Amino acid sequence: MRTSEIRTRWLDYFAANGHEIRPSVSLVSPEPSILFTVAGMVPFIPYILGTQQPPWPRAASVQKCIRTNDIDNVGRTTRHGTFFQMSGNFSFGDYFKEGAIDYAWELLTSGVDRGGYGLDGERLWMTIWEEDEVSWNHLTRTIGVPERRVQKLPFAEISWSTGQPGPAGSCCEIHYDRGPDYGPDGGPAVDTRGDRFLEIWNLVFDEFIRGEGRGHDFELVGKLERTAIDTGAGLERLAFIMQDKPNMYEIDEVYPVIAAAETMSGRSYGRGAAGGRRLGGRRAYARGRRPHPLRPHAHLRRRAPRQRRARLRPAPPHPPRRALHAPAGRGGRRHADPADRLQGRHEGLLPRTGGAVARDQRGRLRRGGRLPAHPGRRHHHPGHRGGRR
Ligand code: GLY
Repeated sequence: MRTSEIRTRWLDYFAANGHEIRPSVSLVSPEPSILFTVAGMVPFIPYILGTQQPPWPRAASVQKCIRTNDIDNVGRTTRHGTFFQMSGNFSFGDYFKEGAIDYAWELLTSGVDRGGYGLDGERLWMTIWEEDEVSWNHLTRTIGVPERRVQKLPFAEISWSTGQPGPAGSCCEIHYDRGPDYGPDGGPAVDTRGDRFLEIWNLVFDEFIRGEGRGHDFELVGKLERTAIDTGAGLERLAFIMQDKPNMYEIDEVYPVIAAAETMSGRSYGRGAAGGRRLGGRRAYARGRRPHPLRPHAHLRRRAPRQRRARLRPAPPHPPRRALHAPAGRGGRRHADPADRLQGRHEGLLPRTGGAVARDQRGRLRRGGRLPAHPGRRHHHPGHRGGRR
């Protein structure tokens, strides 16, 4: 399926499900907290935060993005680009976790003749926050995904924000299993390189507000008055799978750029100085090689970095990254509300902020009067996810 059709199907599906279709906005972010438009949610931040009344309860778009958060991965993986298009659907106090999961599952697995993408549901794996029992129950009981294909992770590894003050929440990441030629078995929690279990869609369940801070060290300043949904599917990644290409650079909408570069440079794509073959294809993993189309010999010199985010300091009381297949209700301390755990061992639930979210004179998000002040105490938010894998 051509990329243009994947895009059209996305917009048609969400329009048919009551979403307002919005155009892509400028790559220069309309939101003052960030320089570039790093995700489809950027133009909707005021609606998610509740600082502006959304004109519609739900929206969808295909947004052009420059993801500065991922820039260090470009040239080291087969799935990151300096520029990409993010297909998204958004709910502003309308549907939440179950609704977002239902839409994603239906669009991905419905037959092509019914307007879907026709992906094999047996190849889809999910990663969710270990405290998110709503998503766990919905995926395993309502939709019927086998428990082994829903892997639980600590919040630090399965949450998302823009990296700046604003909305934040845990995620349900949807990964497509490309098969044993591309990496070890065991799901995305094991395949940390993300070559085999390719993340294609991230559903963000926004319910918190994060404040100022660098890296993973910042404050949680409250809970959103209304929960929101922000999802992002990599349009080029869907094309990468549906066109059965070895990397995102060879899809129909990107390859012409390479072809033009070949013409201009007189060099052939996929042939390094010592000659070579088409890169990044099947058996790359089995051969123990990790060739990359733009850096054909890089895999011989160094291994690509882990794609997962560094853990927070101080380290939370989790063992190293792992897959937990324990069913809901497993032993261990349970919390009445995720915020209880997020707020740490100190307090109970975070209060909802009501209208208390405000910007100071420099436009930074500040907690409002109804939030408790804890002078000198940092709430170590588990961290922003920093970008799609
Ligand atoms: N805003 C969701 C994502 O970029 O993954």
